[in-house]
Amino acid sequence: MSYCEKSNSEVDIENGEILYEDGDHKFIWLGWGKLEGGLIQTNQYLIVNGSKGTLLDPGGIHIFPKVVSNVTKYIDLEDIEYIFFSHQDPDVSSGIPMWLSVTSAQVYVSDLWVRFLPHFGISDLSRIQGIADRGGKMGNYDIIPAHFMHSPGEHIVYDPQAKILFNSDIGAAVFSDENKYLFVDEDNFDEHTALMEGFHKRYLASSNACKYYVNRAKQLDLKMIAPQHGAIFRDRGIDMFLNWLNGLQCGSDIISQIAGE
Ligand SMILES: [Fe+2]
Ligand SMILES: [Fe+2]
Repeated sequence: MSYCEKSNSEVDIENGEILYEDGDHKFIWLGWGKLEGGLIQTNQYLIVNGSKGTLLDPGGIHIFPKVVSNVTKYIDLEDIEYIFFSHQDPDVSSGIPMWLSVTSAQVYVSDLWVRFLPHFGISDLSRIQGIADRGGKMGNYDIIPAHFMHSPGEHIVYDPQAKILFNSDIGAAVFSDENKYLFVDEDNFDEHTALMEGFHKRYLASSNACKYYVNRAKQLDLKMIAPQHGAIFRDRGIDMFLNWLNGLQCGSDIISQIAGE
């Protein structure tokens, strides 16, 4: 088995990288498109296990062609059995109707958001699997609750074979067009917090929600934490990130400050 040990300057930004690989299992980051200037940049991930695939937050309408093109380098669309959506935001899930039309996958999303899906143009909900608040399983993968981080109905996914936690918006960073990189470890963690702080203080609900998440994450055997925006935490960067989040004041903790008082 092996993990991607490339430095940030070696990463293939456009085509993506295999983050973890063993005999029959791959956890893949699908790369960033050239056309994302002005948009919130998003990370999409594909897990390939044997002949079957799982997509994690495959994203909105705008990036659909790029994601399809990178996915099909690894697997036929008809072999995708699960598609996971961590929450209801458009950057996560506005592509649901298109993914339903090009795959025969089961789609997993929080029970809280199932009844909102017809607003994305989905009339047939028969392939939608609502996820309970307590989480559950999606095949071999663990679905873990991460409510209020930031959405009130939010889940993340742990792959126990790759030991990678797909983290939805938790750990998101906002890059400038000129300065993007894939990995965070102890060498660049401190400067990376400046790119995370604004999002986490304003979008996450409270320090109570952060502490609940950190406690759940610390119970896992983790080699990487992979967010939906920004960079992937590895090595010492994992503990540094969890400790940073555990001490963060955000959302309702600082509501007066947010409201400009
Ligand atoms: Fe979000
Ligand atoms: Fe997001």
